[in-house]
Amino acid sequence: MIQLINLPKIIDERGNLSFIEEENHIPFRIKRTYWIYDVPGGEIRGSHAFRNSEEFVVAISGSFDVVLHDGTNESKYSLNRSYYGLYIPRMIFRRIENFSTNSLALVLSSTEFDAEDYIRDFDLFLSLVK
Ligand code: TYD
Repeated sequence: MIQLINLPKIIDERGNLSFIEEENHIPFRIKRTYWIYDVPGGEIRGSHAFRNSEEFVVAISGSFDVVLHDGTNESKYSLNRSYYGLYIPRMIFRRIENFSTNSLALVLSSTEFDAEDYIRDFDLFLSLVK
């Protein structure tokens, strides 16, 4: 189930701290971490779904919108704090847009990179998800 997940936040005068533990704060084991940065204004990333990968996305810095489609409904999530993130199950079509200057999107994935896992064609996605 698509879910916004609050992460632990250790508030400290010296600066706050948050963290993520696999299978505790997020419902999968982390096989891979990647991040998206230096996104030029107006660009859109990630118009695709994954057959198998589950992901967890955090706006470590700045803000952006994650637009999700489950085959029936589209929903938009604005991520703009580093102490919560968005859990995206497998077989959800997503795009990330509206990146602020200097934003940093951290993505935790349940799988290693596999180009075969991508579904980039929205109509194919719709036919598979039904
Ligand atoms: P891609 O996931 O297609 O980017 P977008 O978020 O725009 O959909 O990845 C862009 C390129 O980077 C693509 O050629 C595959 C490569 N890539 C890897 O090699 N390893 C990875 O873990 C990821 C996420 C991408």
